[in-house]
Amino acid sequence: MKIAIIGAGNMGLSFSKSFLKYELIQPENLHLITRNQSKISKISEAFPKSRISVFEELNELEADLIIIAVKPQDFNKVAENIHFKLKENQMVLSIMAGIKIGKIQTMLNHPLIVRAMPNSPTLLGMGITGYTAAEGISFSQLMNIERLLNSTGRSVYLENEDLLDGVTALSGSGPAYFYYIVDAMIKAGTEMGIDENLSKLFVKQTMLGAYHLINNSEKNLEELIKDVASKGGTTEAALKTFEDSNLKEIIQKGILSAEKRAKELNG
Ligand SMILES: NC(=O)c1ccc[n+]([C@@H]2O[C@H](COP(=O)([O-])OP(=O)(O)OC[C@H]3O[C@@H](n4cnc5c(N)ncnc54)[C@H](OP(=O)(O)O)[C@@H]3O)[C@@H](O)[C@H]2O)c1
Repeated sequence: MKIAIIGAGNMGLSFSKSFLKYELIQPENLHLITRNQSKISKISEAFPKSRISVFEELNELEADLIIIAVKPQDFNKVAENIHFKLKENQMVLSIMAGIKIGKIQTMLNHPLIVRAMPNSPTLLGMGITGYTAAEGISFSQLMNIERLLNSTGRSVYLENEDLLDGVTALSGSGPAYFYYIVDAMIKAGTEMGIDENLSKLFVKQTMLGAYHLINNSEKNLEELIKDVASKGGTTEAALKTFEDSNLKEIIQKGILSAEKRAKELNG
């Protein structure tokens, strides 16, 4: 299988690494496309056996699968500059937030589009990707793509494309929400006089432990909270402040704004 990736940025490179790590493709069969000549040498260092080129140079794409990993705002330019016709059996996998299959089909004048929404832990093979496919894509074509996605973590097929905007808002952007909360906790630690490196350690290990408790406990989240928050205790004091400030609603509202933005990106 030959794969071309348009947009050798964070996600494009992280996907490339996963495909090679699990030997799903040969490095010679990977073609990375950037728009910036100055980035070529750095990309070549990481992918010495693969083909690296600049977007403007493209006259055709010798690939069974073309992955579009540019920012949604850059997609118009990419589509306008693909002057050649994609081959009938070429598959396109878009990981761009918000841009719908119908729009990609129209702009590339090509029917075989799979749309996926990964997240940044793909870099460690711990990502989660929601994906959906245009009509006319066979089960085996879809399974080939799922195998690739699974090298970056887990993947979930969704019948309803509209839900991908929710996935974008939930797991696509989700790591940033987590970092935001972790950052707030670390800063609270330093405010209480704990050294920053120790505060980081306390918070990160707490998140790790709590994550495993969620996964391994019979109890639901409410019960797990109750286990920590005894009546009249410290946790209860913190939770009361959160409740008084409607923190849960604020977080939910933030995530719904992300979904709204994903819908706007289709333009
Ligand atoms: N980051 C995430 O956590 C995440 C999660 C889920 C989905 N996504 C989606 O993945 C896509 C890429 O995100 P990212 O975080 O990897 O962004 P990124 O690091 O900025 O990567 C995008 C790359 O595309 C390049 N590019 C732009 N126009 C191009 C063109 N015409 N031809 C070739 N390359 C071009 C950019 O080049 P320059 O370096 O010159 O700008 C950049 O290197 C986005 O659509 C995003 O919605 C990202």
